[in-house]
Amino acid sequence: MRYALLIVLGLVIGIIGTTMTLNALNRGPHYPESLMRMMGYYATSVGKNVKANRCTVSDNLPQLQAMRALSNDLEPILLPQDNEANFRQRASNLRAAIDAMLAAPPSTCAALDKGMNAVGEACDGCHKEYRN
Ligand code: HEC
Repeated sequence: MRYALLIVLGLVIGIIGTTMTLNALNRGPHYPESLMRMMGYYATSVGKNVKANRCTVSDNLPQLQAMRALSNDLEPILLPQDNEANFRQRASNLRAAIDAMLAAPPSTCAALDKGMNAVGEACDGCHKEYRN
């Protein structure tokens, strides 16, 4: 009787383990979260540089360029969403805010801070409506 119970217990543990492994394997790449976390990573990186007074163009241009490239993927990765035209407009607003910085790359912390505030507003504008 005791051995029968142990065998059943072993089977149950095996089934639970297999289910957990399969769930982990099926999770996939999570593109929406990945895109947004990279966006957040670069925005935070610029924010840290401003705090540390590292505000030359070469300190921050690579992050801005990376954010601009990532922002091209907002629609392909995050659509479909409710009110698609509005979503596309929100995505364009972010690109415009980054483009404004790339057109005349900020070389002082004050200018960088101002530009990043506009970028942050574009992030928040979309998040208020589309981030659950
Ligand atoms: C056009 C819309 C839009 C713009 C612009 C946008 N986001 Fe998002 N963001 C979303 C949506 C939608 C989600 C929820 C994604 C999900 O988890 O499915 C999200 C989620 C996030 C998350 C949470 C990710 C997670 O861990 O699940 C972070 C961090 C984030 N955004 C950062 C940013 C930053 C920084 C910017 C600006 C530089 C930005 N986002 C601009 C739509 C946008």
